[in-house]
Amino acid sequence: MPRLILTIESTCDETAAAVVAEDLTVRASVVASQDELHQRFSGVVPEIAARAHVQRILPVIDETLRRAGVSLAELDAIAVANTPGLAGSLLVGVVAAKTLALATGKPLLAINHLYAHIYACRMAAGREIFPCVGLVVSGGHSSLYRCAGPVDFIYLGGTIDDAAGEAFDKVAHMLGLPYPGGPAIARAAERGNSRAHAFPRALLFERERLDYSFSGLKTAVRYAIAGPGRPDFSAVTLTGQQVADLAASFQAAVVDILVAKAILAVERTGLKRLCVGGGVAANRALRALLAAETEARSIDLVIAPPELCTDNAVMGAIAFERLRAGQFESLDLDAVPGLVRHAS
Ligand code: KG4
Ligand code: ZN
Repeated sequence: MPRLILTIESTCDETAAAVVAEDLTVRASVVASQDELHQRFSGVVPEIAARAHVQRILPVIDETLRRAGVSLAELDAIAVANTPGLAGSLLVGVVAAKTLALATGKPLLAINHLYAHIYACRMAAGREIFPCVGLVVSGGHSSLYRCAGPVDFIYLGGTIDDAAGEAFDKVAHMLGLPYPGGPAIARAAERGNSRAHAFPRALLFERERLDYSFSGLKTAVRYAIAGPGRPDFSAVTLTGQQVADLAASFQAAVVDILVAKAILAVERTGLKRLCVGGGVAANRALRALLAAETEARSIDLVIAPPELCTDNAVMGAIAFERLRAGQFESLDLDAVPGLVRHAS
């Protein structure tokens, strides 16, 4: 009988839990999305997210155990994503996990949420993915890592301002599209002309840098809507085709930059594999360009399947790597909201 871990995820606006086995089979996975709570604000409101986690965390854990058909006593460890994320959101998961660990006497394991996004590729690939370059593109982060092994990540570069997903969400708001913006922009872009607007691709030609910047792109979209130098777009009414063209041109700019730097990271490190995870990795245009550019260079590409791109607890199976390495946490485990850039 393989060992079993309960994994808990509450870093942003999804309350999730899973029971995963050491052979990486998923016994149960529950994700309670808060999208409908944040929709009218066009972005995640941290206080609302934290409060919703408090209400949902126990029902989500109960339902996960019920679906898995296992009791707390049958678990080998409790794991929780404690970094990075929203402070109030992270705390809910951390307190729940510590309480369960204390009550059951089971070992406690920490999960780095960004590393878990890369581990979603390992779950889906069904084969070893390390060493690789890891690209995490989510609502809160856009980061490149040299991943020597599952608990051995070195930060290579990332966004110096907005995350790619955040840019999708903000631009969607400007275009009058719903939250979360990524899927809405992708849908609108299907009817649009990606060459209608020549949006900037920041840092694209700075080949010594593995960094991203999306805030200038956001401003360029704003001016394209309201007119040069005019930040207020609220009175502007766009036609469906204008929205589609803006969405397609914006998406093409984001995708170009993400792919170019990821390829550069692979070339710089001399590694032969690129693994991509995080909510934005669900984007079909991004997946298509990644596939084309890696194929042209004989780079092995693994992208997490769409259902494991957005936040979930299944990818928390990375905790087995810590279990095997004996890296247990004490009940002092804290939530660490900020991005830790050095190796784990
Ligand atoms: O990984 P995730 O679920 O949460 C964080 O850890 O942040 O990522 C959420 C982000 C949101 O910004 C959402 O707009 C974006 O992922 N996203 C997408 C797509 N699906 C979700 N962005 C572009 N295209 C998509 N299809
Ligand atoms: Zn995430």
